Amino acid sequence: MKRIGIFTSGGDAPGMNANVRAGVRYALVKGLEVFGIRHGYQGMIDGEIVPMDGRSVSGIIGRGGTILGTARSKDFLTPEGRRRAFENLQRFGIEGLVACGGNGTFQGGSIFYEEYGIPMIGTPGTIDNDLYGTDFTIGYDTAINTAMRAVDKIRDTAESHDRTFFIEVMGRHAGFIAVDVGVATGAEYVAIPETPTNFEALCAYVEKYDRPKRHIFIISEGDEYGNAMKFAEDFKARFDIDTRVSILGHMQRGGSPTVRDRVLATRLGVAAVQGLLDGEKSMMAGEIDNRIVLTPMRETWEKRSEINRELADLVELLR
Ligand code: F6P
Repeated sequence: MKRIGIFTSGGDAPGMNANVRAGVRYALVKGLEVFGIRHGYQGMIDGEIVPMDGRSVSGIIGRGGTILGTARSKDFLTPEGRRRAFENLQRFGIEGLVACGGNGTFQGGSIFYEEYGIPMIGTPGTIDNDLYGTDFTIGYDTAINTAMRAVDKIRDTAESHDRTFFIEVMGRHAGFIAVDVGVATGAEYVAIPETPTNFEALCAYVEKYDRPKRHIFIISEGDEYGNAMKFAEDFKARFDIDTRVSILGHMQRGGSPTVRDRVLATRLGVAAVQGLLDGEKSMMAGEIDNRIVLTPMRETWEKRSEINRELADLVELLR
């Protein structure tokens, strides 16, 4: 293998730049030529492919977002889109790929490998922490710290006004962010998609208080009962309590990555390139118990990464 392509795809996550930097620099150390593919699979289809050298990744290790850009490509879902992507890779002589992304990225990547046989090693880049095959995804640590600080700030105003807050955190189909942030902020309730939500139990808890009190409730955006607005509406219909909703949203995806995310991203960027050099085909490089582990790419999205239920239970136990 002489020439590889590297790209970021799906929702951006803090640490993606550190991952790209490590991948590019390690590939150069190993004598490979490296091309950056802009805007993920969409750039592969549109031919947005640029040569990268050591300097093209200078000074990016501490920057959030991704210098390569990213996208959720609809065209790549079609056989025609994937054919065009393959033709562009051939045109540039690219023989292997390193892809930093999440579920959607690896679903597309698995199919692309099965159709065209170009080796692709993934690195888990998503704030949701919802990939099988790694203890943590790149961007998760930064996101939970960002969300924790936001909730701490909301607590200041909640306490001052004796107000109840429903705070919505990200995590499309997974409650990892909600559970960690809930525990770390001393929240009184966390709603996550992995466990059935019992709204009545929440009401019964609130009814125990006979005078206004601030309550901090964390709602994962993917909870099956509904989002924070739905919780607040049903809550207001039930209680005459001063209630506010705060949706943390995309601020959770931004910002300078933490030490944990930079180190994880760096290790996995190196591991992905090494995987290609070792002849691996369709895998994801993850970190489990502090060791680098390669998992078949298909398993990373077909299997489910389990939430820590004991940790989730601590929220209500300690409130
Ligand atoms: O997968 C990362 C994530 O931030 C999810 O937590 C969220 O549901 C989704 O992306 C939002 O995606 P978009 O930025 O495309 O609206």
